[in-house]
Amino acid sequence: MTEFKKIKNICCIGAGYVGGPTMAVIAKKCPDILINVVDINENRINAWNSADLAELPIFEPGLDEVIKKCRNRNLFFTTEVKKSIESADMVFLSVNTPIKSKGIGAGFASDLKWVEASARQIAKFAKGHTIVVEKSTLPVRTASTIKEILINSCLDKDNTFDKKFSVLSNPEFLAEGTAIDDLENPDRVLIGGIDKFAIESLKNIYGRWVDREKIITMNLWSSELSKLIANAFLAQRISSMNAVAALCESTGANINEVEKAIGADSRIGNKFLKAGPGFGGSCFKKDILNIVYLSNFYGLKEVADYWNQVVLINNWTRHRISKIIVNKLFGTVSGKKLSILGFSFKANTNDTRESSAIQICNNLLEEGAELVIYDPKVSYRKIEEDLIQKEKIPINQIVSEGSWSKANTIEEAAENSDAIIVLTEWDMFKNLDWEKLSSLMRKPSWLFDTRNITDHKKASENGINIWLLGSSN
Ligand code: NAD
Ligand code: UDX
Repeated sequence: MTEFKKIKNICCIGAGYVGGPTMAVIAKKCPDILINVVDINENRINAWNSADLAELPIFEPGLDEVIKKCRNRNLFFTTEVKKSIESADMVFLSVNTPIKSKGIGAGFASDLKWVEASARQIAKFAKGHTIVVEKSTLPVRTASTIKEILINSCLDKDNTFDKKFSVLSNPEFLAEGTAIDDLENPDRVLIGGIDKFAIESLKNIYGRWVDREKIITMNLWSSELSKLIANAFLAQRISSMNAVAALCESTGANINEVEKAIGADSRIGNKFLKAGPGFGGSCFKKDILNIVYLSNFYGLKEVADYWNQVVLINNWTRHRISKIIVNKLFGTVSGKKLSILGFSFKANTNDTRESSAIQICNNLLEEGAELVIYDPKVSYRKIEEDLIQKEKIPINQIVSEGSWSKANTIEEAAENSDAIIVLTEWDMFKNLDWEKLSSLMRKPSWLFDTRNITDHKKASENGINIWLLGSSN
C-alpha cells in the first residue's frame, strides 16, 4: 500500500464560490480535519461568519445547513493568512483566475496574478512538508510555475531548502446551484501529480465519502487540460443547441422535440442539451478562451478557431434574442416597459457573472426600453454593478438610453408592461398566474420565453402573444 500523510490541518486560499462550499463539504465529511478558509476580502470573510445564515456571501441550496453544522467546529473563515498557512499540512488554491483585461493575451489568457501571489505566500509561511493543491482552473503547465515559485522563494541564506512542497492538480467540477450535491456525490475526482505520497494523502481525504474507482489519477498536465476540455465540451453542446434553435425557428421544427430525439441516443446522452439565451457563469467563456489562447500559442490556429466559434455563437445568440424582442414589439422598445424575469446566469444561484441577462438587458437599454427586473436572489446592488458599464461606450455612440428598476414581486414587474421576458429558469416562473399577469399588462402583451419553461399555453389562452425559443410561432 502506498504511504500517505494523514492530513490534520488544511488551509484554503480563496473563500469564493468554490473555496467556501468545497471546504464546507470536506469539513462535514472529515470532522477530524481542521480547516481554515482565508481570503483577502474582509467583507467576504465577515459574511461567511455572519450569524444570520441568509447573509452568507453566496446562495447555494443546502450550503447553510453544512455551514451551521461545521462552522467554528472544524471549519473557520478568517483573514489570518500567515497563521493558517503555517499550521497547514495541505493548502488548497481556490483563488479567482479571470481573463486578463490588458497586456499579453488580453481577452483570452487567464490572469494568474492571484495564483502567483498565493504561491508566494505559501512559500513564505509554510513549514515542513506542505502539499499544495490547485483547485482553481488553471492553464496547462501552471503547476510548474507554482513549483518554481515555491522552490525559489524558500531557499534560505545558505541556498539550501528549509521546506518541502508537493504540487497536485485537483480541478473542481461542481456547478453552481447544485454545488453541495456535486461535492457530496461527484461523478469523479481528478488528481494530477507525480508525488505518489502526496496523491495518496489527498486520495485519502476524498476516499472518506467517494468510491475509490471514482478517484482518477493522472499526470499534472492531463489533469489541468481535462478540466478546461470538460467545460469546453459542455459549452459546445449548448452552443450547438442554440444554433439548432435558430434553425428550428426558420424551418418549423421544434427544439424540444429535436432535443428529445437526439438525447435518446445513448451515445449523445440527454443532459446539457437545453437551448437558452446563451451560457453564462464565470467558467465556460473563460476556459474556452484559455484553450483558444493555448492553441494559438502552440501554433494550432485551426484548433483555436474551432473552439472560438463556441463563444461566437454564444454572443450571437444573445444579440439574436434581443433583436427578436425589438422586432416583435413593432421595431421599437423605446419608452416601453419590459419585465425581465431572472438575472442570475442560471437558477438557484445569486451569481450573475457572464449572465446572458446582462448583455440582453444592455441591448434593450440601448434601444431605450424601461426595464423592470425581478430575480429572487440577485440584489439591486449587483444588478447596478452589472448594468452600469456606460464608461465603456463612447458618449457619442449612445443614441437612446432606457432605464431600469428592480421589482420586489413578479406582479410589480408585470404591471403596465408590454412584455415579460424570461431569462433564467427559476422554478417559480414555471407556473405563473397568467390570468392575473395578463390583466396587469398593457395590450398587446407578449411573453418571450428564452428557456422554454413557462406554461405558455395558459399565457396564450389569456390573450398574450407568445415567442418561444426554438419554435416557429
Ligand atoms: P471567486 O471570485 O468567487 O473567489 C475567489 C476568492 O479568492 C475571492 O474571494 C478573492 O478575494 C480570493 N483571493 C484572491 N487572491 C487571494 C489571495 N492572495 N489571498 C487570499 N484570497 C485571495 O472565484 P470562484 O468562482 O470561487 O472560482 C475560483 C476558481 O475555481 C477559478 O479558477 C474558477 O475558474 C474555478 N472554478 C469555479 C467554479 C464555479 O462554479 N464558480 C467551478 C469550478 C472551478
Ligand atoms: C460549469 C460546469 O457545469 C461545472 O462542471 C464547472 O465546474 C463550472 O462551470 P456552472 O457554470 O456553475 O458550471 O453551471 P452550468 O450548469 O454548467 O451552467 C452554465 C450555463 O449554461 C448557464 O448559463 C446555464 O443556464 C447554461 N445551460 C446549461 C444551458 O443553457 N443549457 C443547458 O442544457 C445547461
